[in-house]
Amino acid sequence: DNDPRPAAVDDYFKAHLHAASYNDSLEVIRKNSLIAGLPDIACSPSQAKLLMLQARMCNAKRILEVGTLGGYSAAWFATTSPETKVTTIELDSHFAEVARQNLEKAGLIEKVEILQGLAVDVLREIEEQVQRGERKEFDFVFIDANKQDNLAYFNAAMGITRDRAVIIVDNVVRNGKVSSAEEAEKDDRIKGTRDLVEAIGKLETVDATAIQTVGEKNYDGFLLAMKK
Ligand code: DHB
Ligand code: MG
Repeated sequence: DNDPRPAAVDDYFKAHLHAASYNDSLEVIRKNSLIAGLPDIACSPSQAKLLMLQARMCNAKRILEVGTLGGYSAAWFATTSPETKVTTIELDSHFAEVARQNLEKAGLIEKVEILQGLAVDVLREIEEQVQRGERKEFDFVFIDANKQDNLAYFNAAMGITRDRAVIIVDNVVRNGKVSSAEEAEKDDRIKGTRDLVEAIGKLETVDATAIQTVGEKNYDGFLLAMKK
């Protein structure tokens, strides 16, 4: 983590590839969230734009996020297409209020539904709404909340998404500790991630892989699953 190159490379790519958005309303969200006292764990700009482009590649019109934090990634997802709507779930009422303010200032609040509550409960309500035909299935899901419940969130996502939907999970590498059963015994976030990886590996209903990342955030990675 002392290597200065990953952050310098992120800055270089941002300077050339994010010209239209760099320092604009989306970047203000990151700054406002830190000022409001939220933890400094939002996606990096390059990660958030990659996620949005993946959603756009899926032609995603309905995106679900578990773990809003300050609304930074939700704001990026809101820019997927003019028709795209984002539903994002946040347990912490302060985080949810900061996100609401951030999205309002960014002019994106009409595109984002913030549901405050315990994600497992909110996801169950969403499933009931989908079953009653009151809510359409999601095209794309980003899971980025407490890691202990990753598998519960993934299973819930499987039940409220269309065929060939994409489910992406953040932070599946945790500085390389994910591959260690010993580390999992010491840290239930690592255990939650391993439980998810190993359960997905047994599913016949998705194709999945995971990719390690470096950059301005620490060594980590994403899991990507696509329903068959
Ligand atoms: C943590 C959580 C995240 O979602 C993230 O991207 C980085 C760190 C954490 O809980 O430490
Ligand atoms: Mg994360």
